[in-house]
Amino acid sequence: MSEQPSAGSRPLIPGQIASWLRLVCFIAAAVIATAYTYLAVRKAPSEEANRRQAQKTLRADNAKKGLALITEPGRNADGTFRISIKDATALIVADNKVVAKIQAAAAPAPAAAPAAPAAAGSFVKASDDQMKRGAAVYARTCIACHQPTGMGLPPVFPPIANAPIAVGNPELPIKFILQGLMGPITVNGMTYNSMMPPVPGVSDGDIADVLTYVRQSFGNKGNPVSADQVKAVRAATAGRTAMWTTAELGLK
Ligand code: HEC
Repeated sequence: MSEQPSAGSRPLIPGQIASWLRLVCFIAAAVIATAYTYLAVRKAPSEEANRRQAQKTLRADNAKKGLALITEPGRNADGTFRISIKDATALIVADNKVVAKIQAAAAPAPAAAPAAPAAAGSFVKASDDQMKRGAAVYARTCIACHQPTGMGLPPVFPPIANAPIAVGNPELPIKFILQGLMGPITVNGMTYNSMMPPVPGVSDGDIADVLTYVRQSFGNKGNPVSADQVKAVRAATAGRTAMWTTAELGLK
């Protein structure tokens, strides 16, 4: 008997190789077909996608700049900013989008809308004490951006004089004093898209006092805010660290 395999059993090994080859070829073909389909179907990045990406980058860049301005090392021990507001403004203004906004702002702005008044007959004047305390908190925590006049520093910091949000539902400003605010917002005809950082180191009483002060200064006429109102909002938003967005709060 010969040791050589018979002609009949010979194709056994080549047959195995052939089936492996067939499998490999099949997989390769599948991969190529999938890749081809993917490339064919995938659309070239549209202008819209490019624009969105550019905006996202810009937003991230703005947020980074803003954060750099407000983090602790950027502040003096008394909470004021080490970097001057003028420098901060210049920095933010170096942004093309903001420059475009300034140019737009050079066009005559529509007349300022009057702040929503307290419902007729229901206006409650704040006590002198509360106004005094509120003025002190304002000078400590808001004045750098919203200015002693309440007029802000357009186009970066919006005015809170004649500002409907300041005199509206106090829950909103309480929320963004606690956690900050970002996103596009139009105040007195001008659109802002900057960032208000959470205001550090303010008690429920401080927030009530400062909001009361703002609501009854700068031509605003809104009712006082109580520490209990602040306490309730603080409790309801406890644990939140993300800034509020204007969209989330229904602000435009
Ligand atoms: C670091 C700057 C900064 C500080 C400090 C600051 N704000 Fe703001 N504030 C802003 C910016 C910027 C916006 C607009 C945010 C946006 O574009 O989404 C804003 C928005 C507001 C608004 C709503 C818009 C308007 O103009 O009516 C109110 C009300 C307000 N701030 C009140 C306060 C009060 C009260 C304090 C102090 C307790 C304070 N802010 C502290 C920067 C600041």
